[in-house]
Amino acid sequence: MQVSPMPRANQLAVEVATPALMVDLDVFDANVAALSAMVQGTGKTVRPHVKTHRTPRLAARQLGPHAAGVTCATVGEAEKMVASGISDILIANEVVDPAKVARVAALARGASVRVAVDAPGPVKVLAETARRAGVVIGVLIEVDILLHRGGVVSATEAIELAQAMERSHHLRFDGLMAYEGRQRASVPDRGTRIARAYATLAGVRSALIDAGFGVACVSAAGTSTLREALADPTITEIQAGAYALMEPDLAGLGLPFRCAAVVRGTVISRHGRHFVLDAGRRSIGMEYGPPTPLRIEHVGISVSDEHTTIETDVSLPELGERVDLVPGQIRTTFNLHDAVWVARGDQIVDRWPISARGQSS
Ligand SMILES: Cc1ncc(COP(=O)(O)O)c(C=O)c1O
Repeated sequence: MQVSPMPRANQLAVEVATPALMVDLDVFDANVAALSAMVQGTGKTVRPHVKTHRTPRLAARQLGPHAAGVTCATVGEAEKMVASGISDILIANEVVDPAKVARVAALARGASVRVAVDAPGPVKVLAETARRAGVVIGVLIEVDILLHRGGVVSATEAIELAQAMERSHHLRFDGLMAYEGRQRASVPDRGTRIARAYATLAGVRSALIDAGFGVACVSAAGTSTLREALADPTITEIQAGAYALMEPDLAGLGLPFRCAAVVRGTVISRHGRHFVLDAGRRSIGMEYGPPTPLRIEHVGISVSDEHTTIETDVSLPELGERVDLVPGQIRTTFNLHDAVWVARGDQIVDRWPISARGQSS
């Protein structure tokens, strides 16, 4: 895996208290450009999933000729993105709580908003709330193609939902969405699983078209299924998110992206063959495994709340020295920090708020 070197402490123009989350903007921008190049000529678009970093200033950098808007997981994320000036949002989840539906309608006053549905009840609530608010909300029917994370399980259900939307002047049926992500290189029968998932999606789309519905948008995919999604004739819009910051676990897929973020820690203890950093699970996401220390050959690593203990056969860093860790799980990592330090090469240039941090409702 190629990982960008981050600036070392003695090169910093400003004081960075550790643990500190840092992003190398040059690498981030290169990842965004690499995805744009992959999409070019495919007729598809990207709708980057910003749950990855929950940082509006990073989200804005992901927009461009192939990406008119962003994907959010929650209404709270969407509100922060719209407040920052992003005006084209997909909430790639069902919203069934009437209070949250009212927030979606409020957002639709100032932005183009789409939301996922998979049942008739919430369609009624959405339609009525949009009518009262005097707005139009775009709707994608979610299809369960693999993960059972939500979505209709038959074409008949999808047709019934599309018919229910036809009766409302305040809902616009825009197409389908699905998520088949997390298909890492190590997943057994990966190719067959993805092909089966896409066949399900194609079947539902065909059934809707046969029933007389236009299916303008089919939004799906994550970083791990990027290549397959770009080659698939059904999918029109790619929801990848992790690609912009990357995770070591995704490296085996041979994608043209590099890890762009680290958590920087300080050596606070060193004895025998191990040293300890002041960064742990309270600042590093661990769901996909422990972080990877940069530039340090290590033979063992363990992470607790505020500590990462690294065992090595080579000489130990000095007390007070800074060590950078590439997080195994980027989404949780960003959600643990209020702000991200922004670097270009070896220069720290800014500090941006992770303003949608904690916005899980
Ligand atoms: C619905 C949906 N779409 C897209 C993504 C992006 O996937 P990735 O971050 O692997 O690119 C996610 C991530 O969890 C997701 O939940």
